[in-house]
Amino acid sequence: KVDVEVIHKDVVIIGSGIAGVYTALEIPDSFQIGIITKETLDISNSVLAQGGIAVSLDEKNDSPQLHFKDTLFAGAGLNDQKSVWVLVEEAAENIRILCSLGVNFDKSGQHLSLTREGAHSVNRIIHSGDTTGKEVCDKLIEVARRKKNISIFESHFAVDLVIEEGKCKGVIVYDEIEDKIKIFKSGSVVVATGGFGQIYAHTTNPEVATGDGVGMCLRAGAQAMDMEFIQFHPTVLYHPKDKSFLISEAVRGEGAQLKNSNGEPFMKKYHELGELAPRDIVSRAIFKEMYLTDSKNVFLDITFKGREYIESRFPNIFKTCLDYGIDISKDFIPVAPAEHYCMGGVKTDVDGQTNIPGLYACGEVACTGIHGANRLASNSLLEGLVFGRKIAKKIESEGRPCNNSAVNSRLCYVSNKENDAALKSMKEEIQAAMTKYVGIIRSQQGLEKAAQIIKDIYKKYTDFTGFSLVKLEVLNMLTVAGLVIESALERKESRGAHYRTDYDKTDDTNWRKNIVKELEKGKM
Ligand code: SIN
Repeated sequence: KVDVEVIHKDVVIIGSGIAGVYTALEIPDSFQIGIITKETLDISNSVLAQGGIAVSLDEKNDSPQLHFKDTLFAGAGLNDQKSVWVLVEEAAENIRILCSLGVNFDKSGQHLSLTREGAHSVNRIIHSGDTTGKEVCDKLIEVARRKKNISIFESHFAVDLVIEEGKCKGVIVYDEIEDKIKIFKSGSVVVATGGFGQIYAHTTNPEVATGDGVGMCLRAGAQAMDMEFIQFHPTVLYHPKDKSFLISEAVRGEGAQLKNSNGEPFMKKYHELGELAPRDIVSRAIFKEMYLTDSKNVFLDITFKGREYIESRFPNIFKTCLDYGIDISKDFIPVAPAEHYCMGGVKTDVDGQTNIPGLYACGEVACTGIHGANRLASNSLLEGLVFGRKIAKKIESEGRPCNNSAVNSRLCYVSNKENDAALKSMKEEIQAAMTKYVGIIRSQQGLEKAAQIIKDIYKKYTDFTGFSLVKLEVLNMLTVAGLVIESALERKESRGAHYRTDYDKTDDTNWRKNIVKELEKGKM
């Protein structure tokens, strides 16, 4: 056993995307807050978000009611309506707060510019070029760094939550730079670690998205919901050197057309909304066209807009594609669907509270039920803002905690990085199985094969001894992969992002309900 450093905070926030940092800023200055993040503050899914934030600002053509209706339409009948209403009703207020913090959204005249994305019935996406997430996160981080009550711990990896007498009282953390374990004791913990796209071979998520939040919360006794619903973004660059760069839905929002490898447009065959149908429908249509034409990708055509327009509206996409030799003002963009977002996650109520007192979850790691079976485009950054603020208010209402955790500061900890290479290849095995059997199209047979592969990998995993960051990531990936497969096997119907060839219809009689999971004691 070794003695470990103990750090006291009122609130610990794990994760530095929009949900984590905005929650920290919304908690009163009288609270001492620690933000811990696995790499640096600027590495998160949120930073990579391109399209924008959905908000009903156009008083003539739009309303929270219409945003509510569109969110439910995309969610395929499984959304939690109470949470969706909170999301759409509190959207504008949170955008006003962002603007007051100095976030620059694109404007036309005095008003914020609004664009369209899939399944939105009006233009309601505010944006900052095609790097909206970066603009928002940069500003939030800048403000957070200036605040005296917020301390930032980079290269700190959350290992496990501290639970005492049924309450969350802190978190055990691995400091990667100093190669040592620390304990953060706190009155509340907010988990805002993002998604788990890394369980798939092709994802728009950064490498840090290994499902650490879901793994840690479930080991502590929290519940997960809607884990079978994984969103595949229809248009991710398909290039030998890059299969994870997003080509924003806003490009289709501005009129770009999908074409198969014979150069034929095809979306109208699949849905009357064409390119702007809900994301799950567009991804499945692309998948089918790739199969029919025996190709690994389709194409996105925005050439008709002209270089000047494209360069100013989508500077990042234009430049990145040009770096790969694709001039999108002249050439079609090769694209294919890739994992993008997990609708499911740690189950919370409308205040972001999990079933464990003192433990909150926010953003992609959480499941408030707002997305149902398929998230409406540009509702994700919004979710981090609206529910981050709700969590902050809840924490404020409970007052500054008295930190009476008795957690033992002598822990068993043996660092061992010797097996990291073997553990990394386990990650690839998980990714291969999930991509092959638990992707856009699923079946009982494939899901059962995936379940067996995950079990076999877990068996090999238990042979490794000692602690390493990679080892814990593999455990978290195995946990979330197992939950996704179990839930997908259980849901014997097709709905939203969950499509099964053996149950290809939506079954409202039996399946208009959420699947909630807990970890069995002694399992992953
Ligand atoms: C995009 O820009 O296409 C991504 C937006 C989102 O996932 O909501």
